[in-house]
Amino acid sequence: MSELILGIESSCDETGVALVRTHPGAVPTLLAHALHSQVEMHQAYGGVVPELASRDHIRRVLPLTEAVLAEAGASLAQVDVVAYTRGPGLAGALLVGAGVACALASALERPVLGVHHLEGHLLSPFLSADPPQFPFVALLVSGGHTQLMRVDGVGRYALLGETIDDAAGEAFDKSAKLLGLGYPGGPALSRLAEQGDATAFRLPRPLLHSGDLDFSFAGLKTAVLTQARKLGDALPARSADLAASTQAAIVEVLVKKTLAALVQSGLQRVVVAGGVGANRLLRTQLDAACAQRGVRVHYPELHLCTDNGAMIAMAAAMRLQAGLEQPRRDYQFDVRPR
Ligand code: KG4
Ligand code: ZN
Repeated sequence: MSELILGIESSCDETGVALVRTHPGAVPTLLAHALHSQVEMHQAYGGVVPELASRDHIRRVLPLTEAVLAEAGASLAQVDVVAYTRGPGLAGALLVGAGVACALASALERPVLGVHHLEGHLLSPFLSADPPQFPFVALLVSGGHTQLMRVDGVGRYALLGETIDDAAGEAFDKSAKLLGLGYPGGPALSRLAEQGDATAFRLPRPLLHSGDLDFSFAGLKTAVLTQARKLGDALPARSADLAASTQAAIVEVLVKKTLAALVQSGLQRVVVAGGVGANRLLRTQLDAACAQRGVRVHYPELHLCTDNGAMIAMAAAMRLQAGLEQPRRDYQFDVRPR
């Protein structure tokens, strides 16, 4: 039976809504999605202000829902399941998505389904025209998480390694802040890096030879800070070089550990997901390294790397199809910030 799944994402600074259709025995398809980014609003504060984020989600979520339904040529009454991001994320922001999802579902007398934000990222490459096949190694690199996983199917995830301190996204964001690049740091640092020399500064590659699949990026941030202090007044003239050197260090660790995960698991396919998956250097270096080994790499489409509603609707649809979920009808605002 084919079902229409409405997905709502509101865990941080993007409000995302999407409509996905399930097909028996096939990958669900995206009918429409809409996104409102709060980046401009938070920029003045140098980072996400949780209270402002929640207020803006409230303002955006229903107009975005109407836009998605209009684009898909569907009515609210046709929606079979309402899915939302249950966590992790900002508690107040999550509550907006959960509250609206429960209210819509209750009015429609349809079930609701809470989705794990990271599972949304993980399954986002299935939104592309050429989706991956199971099993694969997943490199999950978002703002708060850096994980390598073995993925054998929907809901069949084995953690191979993860960061013991900062995430790769945090390393990008915190280094960008040290360089005065503001928020969001990752894209800004990677833009500046394009004009710099990646060999200019020798920065540490933490845990590169640790023999396991764990990561550590806190020391790298400290090394960037030390280098920035040493440069002093010369920093502005060398910031592109420092940005390029920082990006090269982060990317080298991510690529080498992903290759090690392939060796350890014996798998021949990689899926990269999460905001850092939009990074151009990561994509070119991972593609080159994997091509040499005959390994295929799948990414979400660029605009679906960072937070969006499509990945939430998709993850809900895939979990329903896999028989992993009994959508709830109790309409409790069930969120899990951590
Ligand atoms: O997955 P995401 O949108 O949100 C979370 O679930 O955390 O990831 C956001 C992270 C931020 O750290 C951001 O700086 C980083 O992804 N990011 C990038 C790029 N685009 C986003 N990092 C490096 N290069 C990029 N092009
Ligand atoms: Zn995310």
